[in-house]
Amino acid sequence: MRLEDILFSQGFGTRRVCAGLIQQGHVQVHGQTVVDAGEFFELEGLRFKVQGEDWPFAGQAYLMLNKPAGTECSQKPSTWPSIYTLLPAPLRQRPQKAAVQGVQAVGRLDQDTTGLLLLTDDGKFIHKMSSPKHHVPKVYEVTTKHPITAEMVDRLLTGVVLDDDPQAVKAAACEAVGELHLRLTLTEGKYHQVKRMLAAVGNRVEGLHRSRIGGLALNDLAPGQWRWLTEEDLSLLKP
Ligand code: URA
Repeated sequence: MRLEDILFSQGFGTRRVCAGLIQQGHVQVHGQTVVDAGEFFELEGLRFKVQGEDWPFAGQAYLMLNKPAGTECSQKPSTWPSIYTLLPAPLRQRPQKAAVQGVQAVGRLDQDTTGLLLLTDDGKFIHKMSSPKHHVPKVYEVTTKHPITAEMVDRLLTGVVLDDDPQAVKAAACEAVGELHLRLTLTEGKYHQVKRMLAAVGNRVEGLHRSRIGGLALNDLAPGQWRWLTEEDLSLLKP
């Protein structure tokens, strides 16, 4: 692919802006500055630098973010800063056939929830991961207001009825790991599901953190940090 088109496809601006970056000597490929915007490069395994920053070529972008508290998973947030401000501009500007640009969050976490959030510009992946048929377990670390009783754990495992649906929802796994700390695994993602399930058993969520989706754990990614997902990470997300 021509270098100008490569940069365009990766979100570095219009073709004209990309050509300008190249011609002004801001782009390096394999350690060499390339000033010919029309020079061809193999995409497989391609890495390049734009203004000193290293980028891999990604046909589609798959990322994980450790969402900090006090951020909204919306492009147009109402009160809190958007999680999208935590990503570099090219990831937010990758061109798309659809009306939206750039990577999108796979589902949403509440403003005050922290932890593992996936982002991608692959619409099929978002659809698949969000489908009710796709039972990828999501693990939440819940800090509760009141001590967790054995009866609460039991009810969360057998099923509780939420206000918008007569069909009971139940945790795939639930374990009290401390007096006020519950580890809850869900395979669906209804609106405010953890908070509503805890309310239904007479408790209250004081803190909520998603630590894992399928086999993919957040591990030591710091709050507010993101990283690319590897092929291996993606394989860990299969149900
Ligand atoms: N359940 C909730 O209540 N909130 C979240 O952010 C995620 C799951």
